[in-house]
Order: sequence, then structure tokens, then C-alpha cells
Amino acid sequence: MLDRVPDTVSVYEVSPRDGLQNEPTVVPLEQKVRLVEALLAAGITRIEAASFVSPKWVPQLADGEQLLARFGRREGITLSALCPNARGFERAASVGVAEVAVFLSASETHNRKNINRTVDEALAIYAEVTEMARAEGVRVRGYVSTVWGCPYEGEVEPARALSITRRLLEMGCYEISLGDTIGVGTPLQTRRIVDLFAREVGLDRIALHLHDTRGTALANILVGLEHGVRTFDASVGGLGGCPYAPGAAGNVATEDLVYMLHAMGVSTGIDLDALWEAGQVAEAVVGRPLPGKVHKAGTRWRRS
Ligand code: HMG
Ligand code: MG
Repeated sequence: MLDRVPDTVSVYEVSPRDGLQNEPTVVPLEQKVRLVEALLAAGITRIEAASFVSPKWVPQLADGEQLLARFGRREGITLSALCPNARGFERAASVGVAEVAVFLSASETHNRKNINRTVDEALAIYAEVTEMARAEGVRVRGYVSTVWGCPYEGEVEPARALSITRRLLEMGCYEISLGDTIGVGTPLQTRRIVDLFAREVGLDRIALHLHDTRGTALANILVGLEHGVRTFDASVGGLGGCPYAPGAAGNVATEDLVYMLHAMGVSTGIDLDALWEAGQVAEAVVGRPLPGKVHKAGTRWRRS
């Protein structure tokens, strides 16, 4: 049982990227701007706002340059973007981003379906991207997907994610976000994974990115929190999925994560009421109901 909590936790918001990439329609630029503005107004300081992947593969996010150019660099705020190769990095650098994220999967089949490369090929590409980023003073975050399971291969040995993580850290990634891409993880499995990473690389540079497909994300986050993870990815309203992971739902809803943390005395720097408003914006932007629990229930439960 959790008997002590950290004072603060860092929330890394992914809805404009991980959320909108999976929408059946392309959300207009102005609506994306509206969503990012609402997230910033809630006090979120780390947002993955765009993706410089192939516009043929993900047309939903083809306007990344325009979106990031609208915000520019801001003191205390990190707006990041996915970047699958040197071309992606050049696009990101052309609008002066301070951070990009590279990504690959612990399982070969998902990696191939998602970025059309083997794991080794992807690592070679990211060695080049991290080198380019170093030269430009751009920070690089790394994702390892399918750590808890692969939609094509089933169970994945955690040692695979660990060896990829080591490589990404050696290349200079400042943080590695471990993905339960299809939301199959359980608390016991999470404990095994987090224990392994704590022993082998430490948890100060590890984040968890948990899709809530089967409702286990918060339980897994609690296990991570208990073991020392201090950064969690989340998506407002629970918006999202992965277009190359069939059946995947969105990340844990940011409001649910922040509600739980604040109610346990953990601060995030986020204003939960303003975050709830951002969830309303997200719902209006995509034009369909979002699944987040606090999004639906509201932020308060006591009678005032
Ligand atoms: P490819 O087709 O193998 O690429 O795609 P290529 O290098 O052979 O190039 C083919 C064409 O694409 C060329 O154009 C390139 O210029 C162009 P052409 O000469 O034919 O006119 N191209 C690009 N254009 C713009 N920007 C680029 C770029 N790269 C190539 N960066 C590639 C390989 C990686 C590009 C492709 O597979 C791709 O874009 N995949 C991205 C898929 C994706 O975005 N998936 C979702 C994000 S990952 C995720 O959601 C998981 C995560 O949330 C964590 C988790 O949940 O676990 C992060
Ligand atoms: Mg994801």
C-alpha cells in the first residue's frame, strides 16, 4: 500500500499529439490552437503539441509547423513534437522547437507497422537525430512503446524495453517514457517492470505513458508512484489512441490523474478546474463525448 507520496509530480500532456492523431477527421489548425491555449491556461507546462511524422501516414497532424510557430518559445513552457527521422527533426528545427521526442517499440512487429523500420534501424536513425539535436541545443525525449504488450506479438519481455532504453539514454535522451500502447498492463506487471528499471537504470529519467484501454492506467500509475516514478503522461478527457495499434484507447485522462494526485496531497502545478475546462474544449474540438471520469463527473464531490 502507498504510505508516502512525493510532494510533486510532473504531468506531460499528450492530447494534441497522441489524442488528435487518432481522430477520424483532421481537426482544423485554429481548433488545435484553442486546445493548446486551454491546456496552457490550466498551468500545464509540458505539452506534446505536434508530430513531424510523414503527413501521408498521419494526415491529422500535417500542420505541425504552423501550430508550433503560433506559440514560439515561451519561458517555463515546453512544447514538444514527435520526430521519426532526420527529415522530422529538420521540420521541428525550422520552427525553433526546444524539445523533440523520438519513438520506437519494444516489439519488432509494432515497430515495423508504426515506423516501417526494424528496432535496430530505428536506433541508428535516432543516433543521427540525437546528434542533430545536440548540435542545435534541442532536448530529446524517448518513447519505448508496447512495453506491457504488443497488439501483434502479445507479451513482450521487459528486457527488450530495458535494452532500448539504455541505448536511448546513451544517445542523450533526457527522459524515456515507457508506453503501455494498448492498455493491457496490470499492477503486478507494472511492479515487475518498474522494479527492473529501478534496479538497472534508476527511475529519475523514466516516465510512464499508459493508455487506459482496459481501465488499469491509474492503478498502474499508483504502482509507479509508489516505486519512485515522478513523471506521468496523460491526455485531457482521455482523448486519443495510436493509429497503428488497433483497439488502443487514449492515455489516462489528465483530469483523473490530477484529481487523484491532488486529493492525495501531491502537487502538479495544474489548476484542476481550469483543466476540466480544457477537457470541455477538447470535447468541443473533436465533437464527440470523451471518456475521462472526472471529465464526466466534475472536479468536486463535497457539498459546499
Ligand atoms: P517511410 O514511408 O518508410 O519513409 O515512413 P521514407 O523514409 O521511405 O520516405 C517516404 C516519403 O515520406 C518521402 O517522400 C519522404 O520525404 C517522406 P517522397 O519522396 O515519397 O515524396 N517523409 C517525410 N515527410 C515529412 N516528414 C517526415 C518524413 N519522413 C519521411 N518526418 C516514417 C517512415 C517513420 C516517416 C513513417 O512510418 C511515419 O511517419 N510513421 C509515423 C507513424 C506515427 O506517427 N504513429 C503514431 C505515433 S507513435 C505512438 O502513438 C506511440 C506513442 O504514443 C507511445 C505509446 O503509446 O506507446 C509515442
Ligand atoms: Mg501513446
